[in-house]
Amino acid sequence: ERIGLFQSGGLSSLAVGVWLHEQSTPTRHYIADIGQTDRTRLDALVSSLRGFGDEAVLVDLRPAIAAVASDLLRYRARHDGGYWNTTGASRLVLVSGLAPLMRADGCRALAHGCVGGGNDQRRFARYGVQVAPELPVIEPWTNPQALERFPGRKAMLEAVVEHGLPLDPGSGAERSTDGNLAGVSHESAELEDLETPVTRLDPRWSRWPEQAPAEPETVTVVFRDGRVTDVNGSGPDPVEWMARANEIGARNGVWLRDVVERRIIGTVCRGVYEAPGLELLDRAWTRILQAGLDAEGRELYARLGAVLGAAMYEARWLDPAAHAARDAIDRLVGEIGGTVTLSVHRGVVRVERTRVAGRVVQQTRFGSGGNRWSQEAAVWTRKEDSDA
Ligand code: ARG
Repeated sequence: ERIGLFQSGGLSSLAVGVWLHEQSTPTRHYIADIGQTDRTRLDALVSSLRGFGDEAVLVDLRPAIAAVASDLLRYRARHDGGYWNTTGASRLVLVSGLAPLMRADGCRALAHGCVGGGNDQRRFARYGVQVAPELPVIEPWTNPQALERFPGRKAMLEAVVEHGLPLDPGSGAERSTDGNLAGVSHESAELEDLETPVTRLDPRWSRWPEQAPAEPETVTVVFRDGRVTDVNGSGPDPVEWMARANEIGARNGVWLRDVVERRIIGTVCRGVYEAPGLELLDRAWTRILQAGLDAEGRELYARLGAVLGAAMYEARWLDPAAHAARDAIDRLVGEIGGTVTLSVHRGVVRVERTRVAGRVVQQTRFGSGGNRWSQEAAVWTRKEDSDA
């Protein structure tokens, strides 16, 4: 009767692996490739867990996280003033992608390494109930015996090192980094103090604007039916265009959000987010929205996007209200598109030019100029992209 463990390779989930091992609980570690690091590191994690005596599998969920990244952009699901909560997005993908496999493999429960009271614990709980309601969720870091054995991150680190398990370089006694194809979030003991300058951070992918190349770079983004279909020749696969956008944004210093978060249970923390691709693509998408929606449409879009940003943060993405908000946005943006050329330079993004396609808003004048009843109306027009 084994249990399935969501294994990230970070400190707390590796320590859960050690704890379950010490309890003689048969454990199968599920490791997802969500674009957080290179594949060789994940393969190494799988083999050391097997060497440790456990079962371990690696599952490619890059298409799933890329599809969610595409949704984040389409719905502009940004949270609390405008950042991309890519950590919430990954919990959706991990539970939806791995829990069904755990069930199919005959696991009797799902375990994870999240600490009690944190957002990730809430997210695994909520999505777990929705995706695999019959499987209980085991949270060792809310279990008093496990906490006595591992009273803090230092004790976890000692055990992980002692067993020779390869720790993700973004994780340690003093910090925790969470990454995937959509972006990276950073929390650390040092950054918790708002007096600590954000430049103490070691970004995983990105450069600070002052380290970016002196010459501007040009990016061409194609949108069709309200979604990205190409970034500088990447082709339409979201895994490819997301990776391409990340590279360009990261290299040119477009990525940073330094925020004070209100966690789901109300505690406050500092979070630093690195989402170069989404930050970059959003500038192009803004221009398409300006051309494709009227003012009322943009207003409704903005409100629903904020609803969805909070839903992603709080793990309510699969709830009825979130489905309804997405349906409404689909009606607004499902037919808009075009090609936007951006110039990117040291953290600054400029729209160079746009060729709109699909449905666009145009002002039409009714009546003659001298008629005091003359009026203007916004109407929808279709423009076909000549390259279509
Ligand atoms: N506070 C952020 C969030 O709630 C980041 C959580 C990071 N999680 C982690 N395991 N490092 O989304």
